[in-house]
Amino acid sequence: MQSSAESRPVHILFVGAGAVGCFYASRLHHPASSVYTSLTARSNYSVIAKSGVTLQTHSFGDYNFTPHAVFPSVTAAAETKSEDGFGAPRDGWDYVVVTTKALPDQSDDSQLIAPLISAKSCIVLIQNGVGVEEPYRKRFPRNPIISGVTVVSAEQIKQGTIRQNRWTRISLGPYGDGRTGNGPASEGTKRLLTEGHARMDDLARWWTELGGIKDVETHTELELQTIRWHKLTINAAFNPTAVASGGRGNADQLKDPELREHILGIMNEIWTAVPKILGKPFPENLATPERIVRSTERNAGAKPSMLLDWEAGRPMELEVILGNPVRIARHAGVEMPRLQSIYALLKSMQEVRDASRKAKL
Ligand SMILES: NC(=O)c1ccc[n+]([C@@H]2O[C@H](COP(=O)([O-])OP(=O)(O)OC[C@H]3O[C@@H](n4cnc5c(N)ncnc54)[C@H](OP(=O)(O)O)[C@@H]3O)[C@@H](O)[C@H]2O)c1
Repeated sequence: MQSSAESRPVHILFVGAGAVGCFYASRLHHPASSVYTSLTARSNYSVIAKSGVTLQTHSFGDYNFTPHAVFPSVTAAAETKSEDGFGAPRDGWDYVVVTTKALPDQSDDSQLIAPLISAKSCIVLIQNGVGVEEPYRKRFPRNPIISGVTVVSAEQIKQGTIRQNRWTRISLGPYGDGRTGNGPASEGTKRLLTEGHARMDDLARWWTELGGIKDVETHTELELQTIRWHKLTINAAFNPTAVASGGRGNADQLKDPELREHILGIMNEIWTAVPKILGKPFPENLATPERIVRSTERNAGAKPSMLLDWEAGRPMELEVILGNPVRIARHAGVEMPRLQSIYALLKSMQEVRDASRKAKL
């Protein structure tokens, strides 16, 4: 563990105090090193404000996390100022980490966080899917953005209690203009990438040295986008299929020969489109669709989050897992008909469900 403090206090605010937000926030807060982590909560605000976050983790045991400050809303986190007490820092947040579900069809969270962002703020997005960074880059053309992909199995089992079942991997990369090296970057983009790299290195060091997370990985913009698209191979195949197949878990889907063909079909569509989208095929060290399928067969685990969201009547991350990939591929001249079909069907299922709920009110 690092014992020396940062030369000045670092204030980090997580927006979205759910499974991922609370877990990663709890591994960053280290007042002895002048790294202070705060949370913006919503439905679980009163529990966390009273008792902190209870963590039951596979990797670090059970513990309680008392954040530097807890806010009931973004507005409160933007307005409450304090010299060095338990509020927002007077001179603005150093990092704003977004760990809400990525639901651009429901809310523009780049707009949500706008009151929190000052010239010194670095925006960090830890969310699934692709194209999540674009609204943030449009709204904040001069702030460094770090894109984050995590492989963690975490859930909020009751308000303010987070269970981390396994894995801690978090992959980070600076986000420039989304062109990932296709063509020369402008001077402004080069500056954003350089600044993003430096801010990312600090964040990775704190998570590793202060938080004890062993598999924090730092990448270039292109490498990180490659990881996003590779994770999408799994998410875009299994998550929507879990809903459309009537509630089957990942391993169970593979027992059905028709569903298995459909899963491999979606994965292969992404595999074929990626070189045209990113200008490079997936590197050989990343698991191929066949390998992903074989390892998933052995892993009869929990239900995918999209199925849990569907069953609970919550919005699903359809746009970042299906809609954006279809649109980004189309822009690059590639059609992904299997993804497009399942996107259209699930989007309609969600719209019909929400309309019928509205009609009953
Ligand atoms: N959980 C995992 O194991 C895992 C693994 C890899 C990737 N991911 C990805 O990580 C992201 C976060 O997932 P998660 O599992 O942590 O979701 P989650 O448990 O549902 O947490 C999201 C949190 O954001 C809060 N929120 C939403 N809008 C807000 C607003 N306007 N103001 C304040 N808080 C707001 C929600 O509050 P309410 O409770 O009030 O709705 C909730 O506490 C998603 O993109 C997910 O796909 C998750």
